[in-house]
Amino acid sequence: MKPAILLIGTNGQVGRELHRMLPRIGEVTALDRAGLDLTQPDEIRRAIRTFHPAYIINAAAYTAVDKA
Ligand SMILES: NC(=O)c1ccc[n+]([C@@H]2O[C@H](COP(=O)([O-])OP(=O)(O)OC[C@H]3O[C@@H](n4cnc5c(N)ncnc54)[C@H](OP(=O)(O)O)[C@@H]3O)[C@@H](O)[C@H]2O)c1
Repeated sequence: MKPAILLIGTNGQVGRELHRMLPRIGEVTALDRAGLDLTQPDEIRRAIRTFHPAYIINAAAYTAVDKA
């Protein structure tokens, strides 16, 4: 059985590539910011409790460097 993988930040450049490739090795649940906002700890807890991932891969990041 393939491991459950939770991919966060699936709409970003890295996230899109991972979403394309990860199904080769696991059952992927891919969430964009609407599905899981990393600034909201309750949303992180809820996603982990809901999907029970063996692996969590975070491709989300604050990448607006000039505004950081
Ligand atoms: N691109 C590369 O070649 C490369 C190479 C090495 C390492 N990295 C690293 O990989 C990571 C992602 O880079 P990227 O190029 O894929 O950036 P990106 O295209 O700007 O994607 C970042 C993603 O993060 C999401 N995001 C931002 N804040 C969030 C939040 N609070 N909750 C959930 N999602 C949030 C964005 O959502 P929205 O679309 O809603 O804004 C966006 O989809 C960064 O840490 C970067 O340093 C990238």
